[in-house]
Amino acid sequence: MTTNQITVTLNNGLAIPALGFGVFQASPEDTVTSVTTALQGGYRLIDTAASYGNEREVGVGIRRSGIDRSEIVIESKLWISDYADDKPEVGFEASLRRLGVDYVDLYLLHQPTPADFDDTIAAYQLLERKLAEGKVHAIGVANFSPDHLTRLLDTVDTVPAVNQVEVHPYFTNATVQHADTTLGILTQAWSPIGGIHRYRPSDGAGAGNVFENPVITGLAAKYGKSPAQVILRWHLDEGRSALPKSTHANRIAENFDVFDFTLTSDELAAIDALDTGLRGGPDPELLNTRTFPRAVDNS
Ligand SMILES: NC(=O)c1ccc[n+]([C@@H]2O[C@H](COP(=O)([O-])OP(=O)(O)OC[C@H]3O[C@@H](n4cnc5c(N)ncnc54)[C@H](OP(=O)(O)O)[C@@H]3O)[C@@H](O)[C@H]2O)c1
Repeated sequence: MTTNQITVTLNNGLAIPALGFGVFQASPEDTVTSVTTALQGGYRLIDTAASYGNEREVGVGIRRSGIDRSEIVIESKLWISDYADDKPEVGFEASLRRLGVDYVDLYLLHQPTPADFDDTIAAYQLLERKLAEGKVHAIGVANFSPDHLTRLLDTVDTVPAVNQVEVHPYFTNATVQHADTTLGILTQAWSPIGGIHRYRPSDGAGAGNVFENPVITGLAAKYGKSPAQVILRWHLDEGRSALPKSTHANRIAENFDVFDFTLTSDELAAIDALDTGLRGGPDPELLNTRTFPRAVDNS
């Protein structure tokens, strides 16, 4: 299938689709169906993680789609329970095994562990080795602040290709985006349509459902698009990658139908101005294996 998908070129030359598909919190059964539906509907980037517990089903969904693996960008992440000692190698190999592939296109550290940053560095150095071996085509990080990026780059050789962080109209994460841009790192937006405020409504101190914001609904009416489509176009027009998740076929299609309009610079600025400064997800500064004791089972 040909689409007018936007392609972004990472700092190591790898070209990836700007709009991808996320599977966090998708049940194993829903993951197979939604990945197949997304690929058959034109998506070519699937974002998963060892800690989502659905890498196997992502692999099944890819194989069922009938689309050649070489046309698909598979992105996965190493969880913090696998940062220390020999665990990064074990965790990476287990992800390959679960996905049923012999390489992943993009492989990230899922979180920094600021209080045990030596572990974060050791895990990233495993990513660098996998890059050199050709088992990964680009490496990156997620949930890194500018300070975490500085601490990492003080030691390692490879500038991350992406930093996957929470970005939606109610949390624009502008400081992180600025640091990413300065370092040549692509910002990838997780919870791009503000999902975290809907499935964890007690978080975010009342930031609420951005789909109901009048700036968003006004632009949706102007362009004959849905609120989700307006927000996804805001990400693309500002040069980010975005990874919306849905387990509903109609929404999977809706979220991909964003390549026939663009927002003006004033409209982008109006959406930027909705920032509340309140993240919906956990503060990355506080993450470690004690505050998040859940471990990935690599058996
Ligand atoms: N690196 C990290 O730490 C991290 C953290 C969180 C997420 N992520 C990645 O980012 C992806 C997306 O983030 P997310 O899942 O938190 O949030 P999201 O994509 O912003 O929102 C997903 C939520 O919105 C609903 N939805 C999707 N499309 C919709 C539409 N067109 N209209 C109305 N509702 C819609 C979904 O429900 P239904 O499924 O019921 O349609 C789901 O509840 C994840 O799947 C994962 O791949 C990464």
